[in-house]
Amino acid sequence: MSADVDDFARWSAAATAWSDNYLATLRDRPVRPNVVVGDVAAKLPQLPPEHGEPMDDILRDFDSIIVPGMTHWQHPGFFAYFPTSAAVPAMIAEQLATTLCAQTMLWQTSPAATELEQRVVDWLRHALDLPGHFKGVLHDTATTATFSAVLTMRERALDWQGLTAGLGGKRLRIYASDQVHSSIDKAVRLSGIGQDNLVKIAVGDDLGMDANALQAAISGDLAAGYTPAGVIVCVGGTAVGAIDPVRDVIKVAKAHDLYIHVDAAWAGNAMICNEFRHLWAGAEGADSIIFNPYKWLGAVSDCSVQFLADPTPQVRTLGLRPDYLVTQGDDEVTNFNEWTIPLGRRFRALKLWFLLRAYGLNGLRAVIRNQVAWIRELEAKFDADANFTVTSRAQLALFSFRYTPAGGDADKLTPKLLEKINRDGRIYLTQTNHNGQFVIRVSNGSFHTTREDVLGVYGTVREIAKTL
Ligand SMILES: Cc1ncc(COP(=O)(O)O)c(C=O)c1O
Repeated sequence: MSADVDDFARWSAAATAWSDNYLATLRDRPVRPNVVVGDVAAKLPQLPPEHGEPMDDILRDFDSIIVPGMTHWQHPGFFAYFPTSAAVPAMIAEQLATTLCAQTMLWQTSPAATELEQRVVDWLRHALDLPGHFKGVLHDTATTATFSAVLTMRERALDWQGLTAGLGGKRLRIYASDQVHSSIDKAVRLSGIGQDNLVKIAVGDDLGMDANALQAAISGDLAAGYTPAGVIVCVGGTAVGAIDPVRDVIKVAKAHDLYIHVDAAWAGNAMICNEFRHLWAGAEGADSIIFNPYKWLGAVSDCSVQFLADPTPQVRTLGLRPDYLVTQGDDEVTNFNEWTIPLGRRFRALKLWFLLRAYGLNGLRAVIRNQVAWIRELEAKFDADANFTVTSRAQLALFSFRYTPAGGDADKLTPKLLEKINRDGRIYLTQTNHNGQFVIRVSNGSFHTTREDVLGVYGTVREIAKTL
């Protein structure tokens, strides 16, 4: 053994020193690594070591082989996808949770973890100003949480016969706008309902679902013999931040007794701020709401919160209690594995507890408010420059643009500009297709990004554009 319990303090101190230096010097690294496919693999032995190696060597190789091949998600120049970052209290809590190495599947296997999960999720419910009847649970990712909700939609529509008998020839339908994340498509595919039965409802000019079109689709499906099962409401689409008219969509869904799931994986974080809550007004009418504190609150991936107006349908769908999981007093305690897909569950509540206590809601609100304000300032700079066209307005901390110089071919120049920006390494941006056009997204949400970093995006983009 090269590293046992006696060595723990030494290696842990070495890892902490490395992490400290990494965070302090992150700005000096390119956001994306300067590697081509196979570079890292070529430095790794083909076969596993037969004998243990010194931890010094392992840490050295981590620093020299792995880190230079990483994209740096904590980098202040990371404006791609939806940023994911780690606030320091959450990082420390993750280290402690790893030391405990607890499975939080049953109350009995980790009583404090279960009770802490109930409490911090309820703190978050309070922070989002959702009504007290919502009970919450932590999943790894939004994908798994949405899958759980779609399975619940399926079973509720089949009166819980699907779990044993399959779909029984019933043709279920799920409804969502075309702005939803691909995790919704994945959930419907994997649930056995089938992609063809995910009905994508048209959106209006504001990119929100047209509630009248939803009503028409449901009525048409009923007339054609389908069984409508649920609606997925988009609050903050991944492409450009689309938001459905939540209240109107929920009204239609409720009129048909459909199960309602709100995907607010990204935008839900902003709902800790009073001034953004109008964006999802009516969400309290949903059956299930998810958001990812790992996306925008510094909670370290993975960590997705699901609020359930009534947990019973989901527990009925996902819960199984084989003999070896039976514990005394099962009916008095919450065994969270019955609310989620995996049996084994990491102790994710600890990082939320550390984070919420260390920052307080006001501290976290300040992070979100700053990031939204700075992205609006940045959007204004692009607006004022005739060489660029803002293609989607800032929705919270996300907007998109194209490079449209007079006489230039924006369809060719915009992808070329993005490619060059990302090779440059100072910032990292990604693209999407918006209204049939290639556009560049600027998505702000990294915990360590300052106003100067955000406003600096304009200078970097303009400088690189001039070289095309
Ligand atoms: C709106 C939305 N929903 C769901 C997801 C999937 O999240 P996860 O990676 O946690 O499964 C994403 C990911 O970016 C997203 O933007």
